[in-house]
Amino acid sequence: MDHAASFTVGIVGATGAVGQELLRLIEQRGFPVAKLRLFASTRSTGKTVLFRGQPVQVEEARPGVFDHVDVAFFAAGGAVTRSLAPDAVKAGCLVIDKSSALRMDPTVPLVIPEINPQALRSHRGIIANPNCSTAVALMGLWPLHQRFGLRRFFAASYQSVSGAGAEGVRELEAQVGSHVRGGALTFSVFPHQIAFNVIPQVDTFGPDGYTGEETKIMLESRKIMGLPNLAVSATCVRVPVERAHSVAINAEFDRPVSVSEAREAIAGFQGAQLVDDPASKTYPTPLDFSRVVKCGVGRIRLDTALENGLAFWVSGDNLWKGAALNAVQVAELMVKEGLLKPKTSLAAV
Ligand SMILES: NC(=O)c1ccc[n+]([C@@H]2O[C@H](COP(=O)([O-])OP(=O)(O)OC[C@H]3O[C@@H](n4cnc5c(N)ncnc54)[C@H](OP(=O)(O)O)[C@@H]3O)[C@@H](O)[C@H]2O)c1
Repeated sequence: MDHAASFTVGIVGATGAVGQELLRLIEQRGFPVAKLRLFASTRSTGKTVLFRGQPVQVEEARPGVFDHVDVAFFAAGGAVTRSLAPDAVKAGCLVIDKSSALRMDPTVPLVIPEINPQALRSHRGIIANPNCSTAVALMGLWPLHQRFGLRRFFAASYQSVSGAGAEGVRELEAQVGSHVRGGALTFSVFPHQIAFNVIPQVDTFGPDGYTGEETKIMLESRKIMGLPNLAVSATCVRVPVERAHSVAINAEFDRPVSVSEAREAIAGFQGAQLVDDPASKTYPTPLDFSRVVKCGVGRIRLDTALENGLAFWVSGDNLWKGAALNAVQVAELMVKEGLLKPKTSLAAV
């Protein structure tokens, strides 16, 4: 990015899986940072993290720390957002939140820049980012909706362990190591052993039998795409993959569909990369779409059970498009559109 203004940027949850990716992406993409402030819990206070080759000390996230921060990325869970985001907003700091705490608040825009950038204009100090499996699924669904008019969809996710944070990755690696050494396999992050297994539970169960993650896919898809009555049914599954989520989707549309038109729609969408050649066994996999900006879409075929239906597969990085990258893209767009200005320049106006 090339901008005259530069910002005091905060990352709350800087030591976590998403926080670490935020740091890397802000550096790699050249977001205009004048000063970086890193926040986490008291467990991490005083640790140092490298940014542009220089050590930056981690501070305790607490009320009062946002007074001189222009924009803060929150990636420390819903409870931290609920307790500290109002303080940041009061201090005039824009909050770009990765947690689920405020996503469904009607006064908080829930934004994927490639889909509903116009929602940024109505923000009141906080912008929410979608759940990771929703973000990945919508990178395939949105361009198809624009072409054919989405009526309903079914989704089955294959979610990596990093979706449960840094501890999720450690648990998978420890179980694999223990298995190789013939030791006992213990678990605390996931409800069952995840190594050499799949677990059809992501988040806790609601009274309707759906998990929180499954309900998020339904509600967040409706809000982001502006389709309040969209019928959605999802099954979310944790798989022993370290990074990047995949989603198998069966979608029904208002208008007749064809595979060639669907491929054309995906190829023309900036958030997706078409990877679809069955003859050469070419389709997206989580390994191929880790640390990749776009989400891969492939296995596109006519659905045999739905009217005007398509079946397809999407893989995308839960820590990038599903989290940190989307948040940085939101900040970049806010700067580009003149919706984010350094507080010092505001004071000078
Ligand atoms: N992982 C994903 O794929 C993903 C995708 C979308 C959204 N999200 C959301 O992003 C957020 C972070 O997830 P994550 O996967 O990065 O989790 P994580 O790896 O467990 O990291 C959590 C971060 O929050 C900090 N933290 C915990 N309690 C805190 C407190 N009381 N005060 C201040 N900081 C505190 C931790 O600091 P310490 O190191 O000091 O404990 C750590 O930096 C969550 O809301 C999650 O739902 C994650």
